[in-house]
Amino acid sequence: MVISYTVGLLPYLLAVAALIGLIFRLLAPLAKLPGPWYTALTSLVLNYHEFTHGRTLYIHRLHQKYGPVVRLAPNEVSFSTADAVKEIYMSGGSGYDKTEFYSLFTQFRTRTLFSTLPRADHSYMKRYMADRYANTSVMKPEVLDGVSSHAKDFLKKCLEGCAAVSYADIYIHLHCFALDGVTHQLFHPYGTHANRDEKDFRLAKEMSYHDSLKSNFALYYMPWASDVVHYFNPPKPAPLTNDYVLKSSAGSSPSPFSLLSKLQAQAKATSMPPHYVPAECKDHLAAGVDTTGDALCFLMYQLSQPTLESERIQGSLRKELMENPSTPFDRLPYLDAVVKEGLRCFPPIPMSMPRYVPQGGSTIEAHHIPGGTIVSCQVYTVHKDPGVFPQPLEFQPERWLDAQGEIERNRWFSAFGAGGRGCLGRHLAMAEMKLLLREVYSQCRTTVSDQMNSDMEMEDQIIASRPKGQCCKLVFEKVV
Ligand code: HEM
Repeated sequence: MVISYTVGLLPYLLAVAALIGLIFRLLAPLAKLPGPWYTALTSLVLNYHEFTHGRTLYIHRLHQKYGPVVRLAPNEVSFSTADAVKEIYMSGGSGYDKTEFYSLFTQFRTRTLFSTLPRADHSYMKRYMADRYANTSVMKPEVLDGVSSHAKDFLKKCLEGCAAVSYADIYIHLHCFALDGVTHQLFHPYGTHANRDEKDFRLAKEMSYHDSLKSNFALYYMPWASDVVHYFNPPKPAPLTNDYVLKSSAGSSPSPFSLLSKLQAQAKATSMPPHYVPAECKDHLAAGVDTTGDALCFLMYQLSQPTLESERIQGSLRKELMENPSTPFDRLPYLDAVVKEGLRCFPPIPMSMPRYVPQGGSTIEAHHIPGGTIVSCQVYTVHKDPGVFPQPLEFQPERWLDAQGEIERNRWFSAFGAGGRGCLGRHLAMAEMKLLLREVYSQCRTTVSDQMNSDMEMEDQIIASRPKGQCCKLVFEKVV
């Protein structure tokens, strides 16, 4: 009797509890922030866009409608200004702590530089490996010669493709180039040559065509249901990548400039867990392949468009490169402007980089945000502010050559993140991109192939975006 009475009451009790929950959410401090009404109550709409690869553009539309501060979910807020970037990512040096979202990026079940959450642990790790990526290290001939030789392999491969079938799929060959470039720095002499070695090419393909978005988000949001989601969307195994990383990390006498030599020495001197060296190396591999490859892919596709403007820009770039064959690649202003504009328009990590507001709360863009709130800036939107980048959707390298507004533009440019947790590999990435473009455009003209029918729209992954069709067919014509 008592049991059936209680069971009968259950729906009412649940309804009251839900109502109280809703009232609390509507009275919470974040409920007063700009944003669609439903984001004060639920994160479901945001989650829907995440699972369907559309988070970045959804948030961008919200910023266009609501301004630089937008509530995304009951506990999450997005900002889109340089001041917010400074506060969230640079205050105290490294900004606010990363959220558990970064646990998705552990490697071999080990936390790496990228996936370590507390600031203090991160600073300790960064101290012993940062010198390998400092500009002075990257500019050494043993690094640059390696990257240049991989750029030559890329061009050779593309010219062979054009001779055989009239086009080259730069999507995969740029991923090969990025893999070769980063493994040169990580593992030399155990780096890959994916644009000329069939075995390494298979490794590049395994890394480039992964599709782990749904299984990763399921793991993050619904660890209890991840078995079911994994059943329908099994995470793609990466046996070639794991095998390559484990074997290379154990290689003897790596070159002194490589990250491996530093990590092996550190492992010997301290009591690191056995999987630490391969885990850190795999992390840098993952950080350096899709990013550099996709940045170049979007950029070269843009330069190859059949428009007078793209032809003009490609022509200006070629002119600078041909007239200055012996000028160091980092002293070519137009090349620099083209790369920066590419990263502004098509940042390979355009998405939110989530951080926790510290205990006690903080003030961002004049709003008090309680401690524990997830906050972020998405680079895609920060880079499209019309007050800083007039005609933000237009690809205009010349904007970077204009002295007026230079400081402000650089303040808003955040393709490599910002602060102490910004990109460790940015100098390597810039060198790779510039050396590759120099190799191609000092001797070739590129156009979009008439057989190109793949979608080049940006498609969100977990934190990076890639060309949706994962294929980009260009024609390479020698001009000298
Ligand atoms: C165009 C190419 C690249 C872009 C746009 C890029 C962008 C970024 C961004 C935005 C972050 C911060 C992410 C966050 O806070 O969630 C990051 C972190 C990182 N990147 Fe890159 N990256 C690029 C290439 C590379 C390369 C070639 C490497 C070399 C190994 C690399 C290694 C790293 C590492 C290790 C971190 C973590 C740093 C830390 O937590 O201290 N990246 N990158």
